[in-house]
Amino acid sequence: MANDASAVSDAISRNLGALTDPFTPPADSTLWRKNFLLGAATASYQIEGAVDEDGRLPSIWDTFSATPGKVLAGDTGAVACDHYHRWEADVEMLASLGLEGYRLSIAWPRVMDAAGLPNRKGLDFYKRLLNRLKEKGITTSVTVYHWDLPQHLEDRGGWLNRDTAYRFADYADLMSRELAGTVDAWATLNEPWCSAYLGYGNGHHAPGLADGRFATQAMHHLLLAHGLAMPVLRANDPTSQKGIVANIGRGTANSDSAADQRAAHLFEVQHNAWILDPLLKGAYPQDLFELWPGTEPLVLDGDMQTISAPLDFLGINYYFRTNVASDGAHGFRDVQLEGVERTQMGWEVYPDGLRDLLTGFKRTYHNLPPIYITENGMASDDKVIDGHVDDTQRISFLKRHLAAVDQAIKAGVDIRGYFLWSLMDNFEWAFGYERRFGVVHIDYSTQKRTVKRSAELVAKFLKERKARV
Ligand code: FCB
Repeated sequence: MANDASAVSDAISRNLGALTDPFTPPADSTLWRKNFLLGAATASYQIEGAVDEDGRLPSIWDTFSATPGKVLAGDTGAVACDHYHRWEADVEMLASLGLEGYRLSIAWPRVMDAAGLPNRKGLDFYKRLLNRLKEKGITTSVTVYHWDLPQHLEDRGGWLNRDTAYRFADYADLMSRELAGTVDAWATLNEPWCSAYLGYGNGHHAPGLADGRFATQAMHHLLLAHGLAMPVLRANDPTSQKGIVANIGRGTANSDSAADQRAAHLFEVQHNAWILDPLLKGAYPQDLFELWPGTEPLVLDGDMQTISAPLDFLGINYYFRTNVASDGAHGFRDVQLEGVERTQMGWEVYPDGLRDLLTGFKRTYHNLPPIYITENGMASDDKVIDGHVDDTQRISFLKRHLAAVDQAIKAGVDIRGYFLWSLMDNFEWAFGYERRFGVVHIDYSTQKRTVKRSAELVAKFLKERKARV
């Protein structure tokens, strides 16, 4: 990593030193409003384990992680946090922290067989889990698809095959018929950008294909899947909220030169407009095809209308910014900034990016729906010492990103809640178990959960807020 460790720790202590309280928002923060939902997020493949149990079929992530060289240290999601067996204790933990919302995802290969028929045992798991969350008074946000595509669908072309979008609508139909009444908000997809680009464009994620043309076609089919599922969810579960979750990235220019400014613009087109334009404007950004000539997806009549049906909410996942310069041709290249604070992932800590993107979207999209921050958080190499985990950098990270959310709300963006990523350390995709994003530490050899200091402070704030009249 192009980062000097002591410069980073200095930056962290400067940031922490400047704060009188390491987490609690200032008195004038909108986050004190009781209707601002504060919760935590996870995803099925990253926490559940039990990949062969109760009729679950293989997913593309089982196949990918079993392929040598694809995941750091050869880690797989076979056991993960063993949440499939420990879910009751995990819900207890969530409730005892006072977290008000929980965002989880359903494993498609656990609940449907290859013929499209329900797998009762898998479905019962989610029914028990969601019922318990509702009993505890926790707001439930369910993502229908967080990357664990059944392998049998990938064998028929996965997201390159238009038919997968229709199979997804069938799956969303089954889920919303079975789970209606226990779900407060449905998100069709998590981060289609990552599924399309990392899965089919550069091969860093399952299924590991790498072709620019594949990425745009996969994106189109993912968005079509979302659009086909929306009316189905509405029909089956009319009172819940329906939307989608998109990852967004801040791109800033390395210099004032027109070429670098253009590069930063293209970075944001590729990361943000590529998904938000079709959803909110019903068209792909043409600049995208300037960046990647010849990659226009095959779009059939009516598709863009299906994709751009109104959303009840937009879920936003934000992690970092990328500083870019022109690559001398039509594109951009990353230019790593020195001396800035970074996380265990090497990602720059840049809360202003979240505020600037949100206020920018409000200017760009007149029909921007209410927003939930559905993921935000950071990885650190956390250790349990004398029974405690002092995740100082995360405390500061969360505080500063929540302050950015507060600023965006004050600037007029309708933001209804924030789910930190993640409730617990988990299988971080191609990085396996080494990168720890949780506010709860997992000892993978014993499955012991240890609440980190960050979770204690979030809990303290939520308790104080609840006690206010
Ligand atoms: C997001 C994913 C989530 C997690 C975080 C760190 O892109 O949605 O599952 O891995 O990154």
